[in-house]
Amino acid sequence: MQTINSQPLTLLNKITPEQFLAEYWQKKPLLIRQAIPGFSGLLTPDELAGLACEDEVQSRLVQLTKGKWQVTSGPMMEKTFKRLPEKDWTLLVQGVNHYVPEAADLLAHFSFIPHARLDDLMVSYAPDGGGVGPHLDSYDVFLLQGSGKRHWKISQQTDFTLIEDAPLRILKHFETEHEWLMEAGDMLYLPPQIAHWGVAVGDDCMTYSIGFRAPKTQELAHEFLHYLQDHLHLTGMYADADLTLQSHPAEISSAMVNKVYQSLQAISWQPQHVGDFLGRYLTEPKPHIVFEPPKKISLKVFSQRLHQEILHLSLPAQMLFWQDIFYLNGEQITAPSMLTPQLKALADKRFLDCTTLETAQIDQLAMLMHPHYLAGYVTFGESI
Ligand code: SIN
Ligand code: CO
Repeated sequence: MQTINSQPLTLLNKITPEQFLAEYWQKKPLLIRQAIPGFSGLLTPDELAGLACEDEVQSRLVQLTKGKWQVTSGPMMEKTFKRLPEKDWTLLVQGVNHYVPEAADLLAHFSFIPHARLDDLMVSYAPDGGGVGPHLDSYDVFLLQGSGKRHWKISQQTDFTLIEDAPLRILKHFETEHEWLMEAGDMLYLPPQIAHWGVAVGDDCMTYSIGFRAPKTQELAHEFLHYLQDHLHLTGMYADADLTLQSHPAEISSAMVNKVYQSLQAISWQPQHVGDFLGRYLTEPKPHIVFEPPKKISLKVFSQRLHQEILHLSLPAQMLFWQDIFYLNGEQITAPSMLTPQLKALADKRFLDCTTLETAQIDQLAMLMHPHYLAGYVTFGESI
């Protein structure tokens, strides 16, 4: 696997992250030629195909055969790849950063966008003519070209009519406004709802999509109400000492409706509920994610290793913080304040060099992190 240059990358060329956020983020597309000079990808086509054959990895094979779109969901079988035609198909593999350390290193260069917005790294492979057709995404995405070339067309069109009966959302009409041939190391940023269409030009076209999720308001509300259910503690019960005789015993009276309406007014929430909800919700692993617990070690041995080694979040782990409260894989972590700077560093950089910490800090950290180590949420490794 290829590693990317370990020097700090500018990615946006002459545009500063501040300028990017002010002028482009969620506003307009940006093409950055040679965002990563010398980048030719992190995976070979065979390595990507190998990932697509793994049970827990999400992948799709999209083919255009005689004008008809077809989608096959993974896990793929090796024989499927052998039967494919020479042209006009693409393999898409989601969440590559959960399996490939070099992919997680690549994402670290996108830290000018908060981790809370990151979704994952999707990698596609296509021979000549391959692509997923013209479409819209509800995500912000950086499309980074690895090996090969891709012809991108984009459009700010408002005609969102889709091809009927297609197994994926493909736009019926597409009016090209801009187009570019992208080569290795070039990158295109697209805000949500910009129609785009990428077609592989020549073989071995691999595109790295760094996607940033934008949850739907309905989804946030649904999840927040679910959270509230577990965190609401209302007192009292329905009472009707003032009940009068009803002519219809089956009728729900307006008096009853009003009483319940009044008592439901007690459902309220504060910003701290929202902060706590977001910490849990945004770090909750996707359902297919599996953590691999390591060989069991005692708290004492874990503590000794902390003295000498670098603690990492494991590749699929998500850690965020809100104020001084930390969240790891959907769980709140209650940490002593002496560890706040270290835990913030671990969440920001996904690793923590513990070798310079004081013994009291290591002891506290060991107690806090030992269960998460045993669950496979944190691990030991090299610094990035
Ligand atoms: C691809 O890599 O083929 C598709 C990326 C996209 O259009 O979102
Ligand atoms: Co897209």
